[in-house]
Amino acid sequence: MAQRDGFTSTFGVLVATLGSAVGLGNIWKFPYLTGTNGGAGFLLVYLLATLLVGLPVMIAEIMLGRTARANAVSTFEILSPKQPFWKAIGYMGLVAAVLILAFYTEVAGWVFAYVVKSLTGTLGHTDPSSAKATFGTLVSSPAQALSWQWLVLVITGGIIMLGVSKGIEAVAKKLMPLLFLLLIALCVRSLTLPGAAEGLRFLFAPDFSKIGTGVLLTALGLAFFKLSIGMGTMLTYGSYFRPEQNIPTTAARVMVADLSVSLLAGMAIFPAVFAFGFEPAAGPSLVFMTIPAVFDSMPGGRIFMTLFFILTAIASLGAMLSILEVPVAMMTERWSYSRKKATLITLAVVALLGAPASLSQSLTQDWKLFGLNAFDLFDYLSSNVLLPLGGILICLFVGWSYGIAKLSAGLSNDGQLKNRPLVRTLFVLLRYVSPLLIAIVMLKALGIF
Ligand code: PHE
Repeated sequence: MAQRDGFTSTFGVLVATLGSAVGLGNIWKFPYLTGTNGGAGFLLVYLLATLLVGLPVMIAEIMLGRTARANAVSTFEILSPKQPFWKAIGYMGLVAAVLILAFYTEVAGWVFAYVVKSLTGTLGHTDPSSAKATFGTLVSSPAQALSWQWLVLVITGGIIMLGVSKGIEAVAKKLMPLLFLLLIALCVRSLTLPGAAEGLRFLFAPDFSKIGTGVLLTALGLAFFKLSIGMGTMLTYGSYFRPEQNIPTTAARVMVADLSVSLLAGMAIFPAVFAFGFEPAAGPSLVFMTIPAVFDSMPGGRIFMTLFFILTAIASLGAMLSILEVPVAMMTERWSYSRKKATLITLAVVALLGAPASLSQSLTQDWKLFGLNAFDLFDYLSSNVLLPLGGILICLFVGWSYGIAKLSAGLSNDGQLKNRPLVRTLFVLLRYVSPLLIAIVMLKALGIF
């Protein structure tokens, strides 16, 4: 049997799992979706989705991976040899991984570009129109958009080729607390700006009239995207978990830490949005316009801003490596490909698919399907369709096919299960509550229900 790599310590497991969860989802996607979906009401639905659906699915995924000790397709073959159709979950995850990478590498490219821009001092402005112009020039220039994305692909590929993913984890482990501290400093600055209170109200005082079915699905999709679930990432990471690792505790810690980073990003951004007169519903450009404005109003702002974008770039690398792990683990274990070959193939597909996404503000802006350009389509299809669908299937698998006895066994550590009521509650969530909630939200958004 091939030797499988595993995580070497309990703390290492926590950090690696957190490294997958924390990324552009916190700094870029959470604030921009909160802005376009009306603020506090969206945040509330997102929190509920994370607790009632996200956490149970995350625990289930890690448990399945650790029990089977295999990639996302083989896991279902091993755990359910008589019902081979469950392995479709793994294949759907493969598609989702490629779709996510196709637009994620683009956004990571913008972050890398902003590292250079803040170093060279071309970001120093707090007025909305010049901030918009800087971002607009970057995304609407085909050469710039494409080359930054390719740089990200090369760096990510390079990290895997050189076999230094562990090194990145070690670096990320040391740097993440720094990102946390910088976010706190940003919050303090943002909250002391004149007019900050309006931003806080936007973020924390819900207006329920703004919560339509589209908002519900977006919040649910974000919960999946944030926790890296519904596509086999957590399952694959679970396959590297050690037998004595407590899965529910690890998952709960990751969820809390991840939420804290998102909330800090929100509190750094929204007060500034209102103080400087930005548009909360600006969309994907929101972070790239407001964060430089906050830094610009701080002493030593340029240095801290450079550091902030570097840390965000590193966080995005951690997330991208975990997404890549899904196809790479599958190809190496099922087809005996080398890690290099598997990575190269995946990245080549991502480059092909990613090009129309990164050119969607220029050359391919008229390429639309369902009214969405390539960038938005890949995002929508992955977060709002494939991940929740994967989530339902994982719930149904554990709740109706795998059963509570095996769930308990999978969650026990060396044969010891400390918390039976917790497993019961989890089982009820997985069997009834989570899949029903996902199904209702998806059917409603499609207009079927
Ligand atoms: N959770 C990551 C982020 O927020 C993105 C991600 C999605 C990673 C799906 C793995 C799988 O940036």
